[in-house]
Amino acid sequence: MFTAGLARTMLDAHREGVKNLRLVEANAPEALEHLLPAESVDELWVFFPDPWHKNKHTKRRLVAPDFARIAARAIRPGGTLRLATDWQDYADQMRDVLDEAPAFERAFTGEWAERFEGRVLTAFERKGLRVGRDIRDLTYTRVSP
Ligand SMILES: C[S@@+](CC[C@H](N)C(=O)[O-])C[C@H]1O[C@@H](n2cnc3c(N)ncnc32)[C@H](O)[C@@H]1O
Repeated sequence: MFTAGLARTMLDAHREGVKNLRLVEANAPEALEHLLPAESVDELWVFFPDPWHKNKHTKRRLVAPDFARIAARAIRPGGTLRLATDWQDYADQMRDVLDEAPAFERAFTGEWAERFEGRVLTAFERKGLRVGRDIRDLTYTRVSP
């Protein structure tokens, strides 16, 4: 976990007077599976998960078939899953995984979703843009099986 990032978020939230935020220092799949009641989430955002771009590390990627199952349990039918990455190979993997998942349906036409207006531009995304990477957005709707 990036503890300094959690600390920064708490400081920023305090400075802005934000009161409706809860941070959890945990492994994301475990938090999704065990901390949240089934079908309790309106929107799940997964923006710039670590790309693990070396071949021998790609199996560590978060968005893999098991993630689709875990995300589907947490999101309510009709809810939304949004993803973004600056790593083309991971974008392809995300789209393959979610296109295959019976609990999700594409909520975009064409190859990729439009940039989600509510997605704040982070330092991480700025860095990707600076080195000329394409940013890929994906949006899926949780459907009833
Ligand atoms: C590449 S950064 C992107 C951060 C931010 N979403 C952004 O767009 O700037 C990936 C973040 O995911 C966190 N992370 C990686 N694996 C995780 C896991 N299994 N559970 C929870 N957080 C994780 C890292 O600590 C890091 O903060």
